[in-house]
Amino acid sequence: MRILIKDGRVIDPGRLDDTADILIEDGKIIEIRPDIPVTSASRLIAASGKIVSPGLIDMHVHFREPGEEYKETIESGCRAAAHGGFTAVCTMPNTQPVNDNRQVTEYILKTASRCNGSRVYPVAAISPGLKGEGLCEYAELKEAGAIALSDDGNPVRNSLLMRRALEYAGGVGLPLISHSEETDLSAGAMNEGETATRLGIPGIPNAAESIAVMREIALCELTGVPVHIAHVSTAQSVHAIRDAKKRGIPVTAETAPHYFTLTDKAVDEYNTHAKMNPPLRSEADRNAVREGLADGTIDAIATDHAPHSVLEKEVEFDRAANGVVGLETSLALSLALVREKVLSLSQMIEKMSVNPARILGLETGLKIGGSADITIIDPEHNWTVKAEEFQSRSRNTPFEGWEMKGKAVLTMVEGIIVCSIL
Ligand code: DOR
Ligand code: ZN
Repeated sequence: MRILIKDGRVIDPGRLDDTADILIEDGKIIEIRPDIPVTSASRLIAASGKIVSPGLIDMHVHFREPGEEYKETIESGCRAAAHGGFTAVCTMPNTQPVNDNRQVTEYILKTASRCNGSRVYPVAAISPGLKGEGLCEYAELKEAGAIALSDDGNPVRNSLLMRRALEYAGGVGLPLISHSEETDLSAGAMNEGETATRLGIPGIPNAAESIAVMREIALCELTGVPVHIAHVSTAQSVHAIRDAKKRGIPVTAETAPHYFTLTDKAVDEYNTHAKMNPPLRSEADRNAVREGLADGTIDAIATDHAPHSVLEKEVEFDRAANGVVGLETSLALSLALVREKVLSLSQMIEKMSVNPARILGLETGLKIGGSADITIIDPEHNWTVKAEEFQSRSRNTPFEGWEMKGKAVLTMVEGIIVCSIL
């Protein structure tokens, strides 16, 4: 079957930003130009007034299968991703059991292959059980289909082990993603500051993150192996990464929409839907994260989609689980950065597609002969966040009731429409 996407604003960052048509056959893009005749296709998608982008990639999500399927299955997660405009997601290994061996990696890939949603790329663990006490079999995990390594959720406390992990990962060619946290300093439940003091909640200082970021930069410099820093939340981390990049150290970084949208004030009244790790920070940190996005210090926007049920969230603040769902609100919150002139549309697409693909070695872009992984975005679509309507099995969002502008109206994976509200 041939599909024609007509009259959209086609943006492929750095290569193309123009009104054009895209013709797709057998899952591949076969033509991109203006005025492709409608008779060339059996299915027409009218995209006038819409943005046609390379498929968005979320390089940091938590699906809860195997082990906690009541929070999110691979199937529900893939559907939530497709609804959010993502054609691919990278799933973190803190499942039960942990994805630290080839059986779990293969299980995730096999289950995902039966789902009608985004692609799934499993991230495997750095250390068995995420315990930080030894190294997994990276060569075997890569062969099984893992695309990166991370102990996300837990830091690798031992610097020698992290050095060895980098050397081994570099040797087999698997990118390494760091959850940067100095746990001796991070024993609180929210950001250290005025709100924490007022609420009587023990605080987590910025240094709990930035000390660990600085160590990863030092190890990256020592080994020459690239390190990707997950969920950057503080000004000091942004400064350290900016400085490292200036010195030519191969470090990359991501942040999440909640860090550039909210501050720790969202925790007021002990709102556990504003509890995550790292925590929401101050206004100054939020601004520094925005500056880091604008000047390229922060390469990627990833959601850290972390579904939890009411069982883990409707409890005392200090006992509540860390994490928020993000797949179905990320694009609208990122488009707000474009309206606020923090990013151009092309830069936003870069951070949600091209750069994650580059960091992870995945295919991306709108190229003749390339896979038709495409997201069509309506930047004017007004909608209200209603968690009960999420495709995700969990509803733990701090954005309930927010008025949003902009939505993915069609998501296509290898020429197959996995979600459409057109
Ligand atoms: O908020 C978080 N939730 N941070 C993490 O590092 C882990 C994640 C989870 O798995 O729920
Ligand atoms: Zn995470």
